[in-house]
Amino acid sequence: MLEYEFYNWNNLITDDSRKRMVTDIDKMIDNGQYWKNSPPYQTDVNVFGIPTADWINLKMSFIWSAFAYMQQERQIKTVKSWAYKTNLDTQENRDIYWHQHIRENNLVLSGVYYLQMPEGTDLSMSGTEFAPNGVEAGNYIQESAKVGEWIIFPGKTWHRPGVLESNNWRYIVAADMEI
Ligand SMILES: [Fe+2]
Repeated sequence: MLEYEFYNWNNLITDDSRKRMVTDIDKMIDNGQYWKNSPPYQTDVNVFGIPTADWINLKMSFIWSAFAYMQQERQIKTVKSWAYKTNLDTQENRDIYWHQHIRENNLVLSGVYYLQMPEGTDLSMSGTEFAPNGVEAGNYIQESAKVGEWIIFPGKTWHRPGVLESNNWRYIVAADMEI
């Protein structure tokens, strides 16, 4: 069984705020602040540590969403976050993208925030794909990209990014809460 929830932050985090975060991400990538050993471009910057209102609001929205998902407040050990900027050109074989977010001794709750989707893409295919019973089992669930919303799920759930069909860039912010 797969359990995930969406949380809509469009009242607090505006279009303008999202555009500024996209600009921040572009600058990081231009400065080479991304992992060279993983598919392009995942920032090696903990974006929630950027001291502007945009990023602080986004961090708080993640924490709120995670607590709402658990229906309780929990002691947080760490929160990690990064941005991911991708397009069709940089897309590799999608089979290599399946992954989990597991950290020894800690429970992980994960989130994906849909910051900006390429114009004209099919949002129902460009969100996050889940393999609720593992990659081998095959019964995958493709969840839509909902701009301005967090999708929250257990870090142990196998997942991969949705399908890229445009050379315009797709921007998401991902976060893990360890409890
Ligand atoms: Fe992930």
